[in-house]
Amino acid sequence: MKIDGKPFRSIWREEDGSPWGVVKIIDQRWLPHDLRIEALVDRQAFAVAIRDMWVRGAPLIGATAAYGVAVQMAEDPSNASLDETWEVLHETRPTAINLRWALDDMRARLRPLPPEERARAAFARADTICEEDVEMNRKIGEHGLAIIRDIAAKKQPGEPVRILTHCNAGWPATVDWGTATSPIYQAVEAGIPVHVFVDETRPRNQGAQLTAWELNSHGVPHSLIVDNAGGHLMQHGEVDMVIVGTDRTTANGDVCNKIGTYLKALAARANEVPFYVALPSPTIDWTVKDGVREIPIEERSGAEVTHVQGRDAEGRIVTVQVSPDGTDARNPAFDVTPRALVTGLITERGVCEASPEALATMFPDRANKV
Ligand code: MRU
Repeated sequence: MKIDGKPFRSIWREEDGSPWGVVKIIDQRWLPHDLRIEALVDRQAFAVAIRDMWVRGAPLIGATAAYGVAVQMAEDPSNASLDETWEVLHETRPTAINLRWALDDMRARLRPLPPEERARAAFARADTICEEDVEMNRKIGEHGLAIIRDIAAKKQPGEPVRILTHCNAGWPATVDWGTATSPIYQAVEAGIPVHVFVDETRPRNQGAQLTAWELNSHGVPHSLIVDNAGGHLMQHGEVDMVIVGTDRTTANGDVCNKIGTYLKALAARANEVPFYVALPSPTIDWTVKDGVREIPIEERSGAEVTHVQGRDAEGRIVTVQVSPDGTDARNPAFDVTPRALVTGLITERGVCEASPEALATMFPDRANKV
């Protein structure tokens, strides 16, 4: 997608005269206020970037980990180094399954190769993972566009399709396009009027900081809302559909996503608003069935709840405390929406029901492998 009209991806490899070039990312901690680009030069830098959320969003976490393996293979392509890198990167964040998917994929492809061939193969595969992510998201957009088109067809000409989204499942969370935003961008390109309600998404405000920023950059009409406003808007008929992303969807169709998604799904069901989840297939964990009981939920620092980051009148990025000194805070970062609340899963292969049967029919090549 674009920043200030210039094409951008969230991660890329740049020539710098060295054999493999340098991997660069946007350090998302400072958006929308500052566009800071960082080079990730060794395994530790990759681990820090994922753990401390310089990069975030399930597909981007996976792509970053793949490059982290490649950079380490250029440094030390031994079996021990490959295994240790899997561990070091895997322990950075527990919930998004794309991380384990990318690490498993890299290790399975590299292990049979002689060590001297591993760096080249690893960079090539990491590049491919990125290209595949872009293509999957583009296709998710096509399938999601068909749903938006159907809703638009029932409206008066010029009346926007009103879409609520939570967190940031936009292009910064993937390599490009985004998952939840891809149908929205494609609807705009197709000339369908849309209006997006953007949940701010406390505690880290990915909606306010990232989704509002990218929709603004692309001229997509939107309103930022507090996390608690969605139910009210749905109750008053102001939302036509919800589209969210996911960090891990089980083989049964349960959807784990940013904390607060479950409440939106409940409100959507109570108000008969369709609730869609957009996901590329690496986000499906075929080894897990019951999302509520089996998916590890990341617990982050309470400081993210007691404090908020923003920009002051002088343009400086500041963190301010919003609760009394010493307040205890709990900060589960994700929740699970049971499949019964999901209207449909928008994948790169098409839209299916959130059920084990429908997922297995859509992905027979993956479902039967586990
Ligand atoms: O904690 P984050 O910012 O990594 O959480 C991101 C989300 O929950 C996204 O909705 C999800 O990864 C889908 S991204 C296409």
